[in-house]
Amino acid sequence: MSFDSAPESSILEIHLFGVGNVGGSLLDQIHRQQPILRRRGLDLRVCTLGGSRRMLTSDPQSDQGLDLKNWRSELQASSIPSDFEGTLQRAQAHRTKTSVLVDCSTSPVLATRYADAFRHHLHVVTSNKRTNSGPRADYDEVRTAARRHGQRFLYETNVGAGLPVIDTLQNLVATGDRCLRFEGILSGSLSFILGLLESGIPFSQAVRQALDAGYTESDPREDLSGLDAARKLVILAREMGHALDLEELPVQGLLPSGFDASGSLPEFLTRLENLDEDFAQRIAKLDGQRLRYVATWTPTEAQVSPRAVDPNHPLAAIRSAENALCFHTERYQPHPLIIRGYGAGAQVTAAGVLSDILRLAAPSLSLRAGAA
Ligand SMILES: NC(=O)c1ccc[n+]([C@@H]2O[C@H](COP(=O)([O-])OP(=O)(O)OC[C@H]3O[C@@H](n4cnc5c(N)ncnc54)[C@H](OP(=O)(O)O)[C@@H]3O)[C@@H](O)[C@H]2O)c1
Repeated sequence: MSFDSAPESSILEIHLFGVGNVGGSLLDQIHRQQPILRRRGLDLRVCTLGGSRRMLTSDPQSDQGLDLKNWRSELQASSIPSDFEGTLQRAQAHRTKTSVLVDCSTSPVLATRYADAFRHHLHVVTSNKRTNSGPRADYDEVRTAARRHGQRFLYETNVGAGLPVIDTLQNLVATGDRCLRFEGILSGSLSFILGLLESGIPFSQAVRQALDAGYTESDPREDLSGLDAARKLVILAREMGHALDLEELPVQGLLPSGFDASGSLPEFLTRLENLDEDFAQRIAKLDGQRLRYVATWTPTEAQVSPRAVDPNHPLAAIRSAENALCFHTERYQPHPLIIRGYGAGAQVTAAGVLSDILRLAAPSLSLRAGAA
């Protein structure tokens, strides 16, 4: 690949861990946008990409970043073991460039390493929700480390995938508004599954379709148990300045309480067929109401659970992997501020991650906005 020369470009070096649905789409989007962004004054260079076992790194001599044309086959053939520590050190050696660690993995371990990345002078962009929904001490440590080292921590895709949720909420809070009540559908995968059930698709098939479409976590039990939606509500509450912890949030999953959800993923998916009739009956008994997976929050109580809502309720129309977030605030009342749109899926989530990356370079991009 020949690189357009852009001598006055800002250079942003990307070190990406997690190249599954989201990370893979991100690389494809970066590859497509690279020439356009270069003309607008931003040279996005992917210097590291990898998963839990192997990775690719750019040649430090050429200083151009990886050519992304055949990254999948090259990663497949790579014999370089995945090395997070070495990546941080290599990035730090390039202190003249702006560098960002991008975490699109499902790893709980990587999520504990962001403070190290800040110490090595990298910004962090993550779609991985584990740090922001995890123990308070880790949550605080990451923010303290980012401030101390003058680095940025961006995680817009933690809630609502590519929807502008975190930024909107941070702006509300920073300008002195206060959230009084929140109600919403935070799980795109459950929104997709419940929508399919309404169309008569058996429950076990709906779950498989959601998994195949990349709407669920790699193990859909995270979604079906309500854990994924609960993580998002914890993140929202914390953004609103409330110290909610995952352990204290009442969570009712979508699966019946006695159902055996153990075993390997294929075993679990097969066993789901035993619930097809139950769910068909549950939907039939709703008598015009809609089953939705709803998260609610006030300063004194919060919960996530399935709920039957009237057909004229604002959340009744939310299906097909959409999310809807209704913030009832001091300023937004009696009508709430509503954010609605697709809240799961690799493409929209990757676009949200790329937007966060571009925010790190916003001044250089906006100066040349007319040059696209
Ligand atoms: N999909 C969505 O709609 C969506 C929306 C919002 C947020 N997210 C979040 O985005 C992240 C990625 O989601 P996804 O759908 O892309 O998941 P995925 O397809 O399962 O991909 C996850 C990737 O993480 C990698 N990984 C696991 N442990 C790792 C480690 N220690 N170091 C490096 N890589 C590691 C895996 O690599 P190996 O295969 O090599 O193990 C895998 O490629 C998750 O945290 C998810 O919660 C997803």
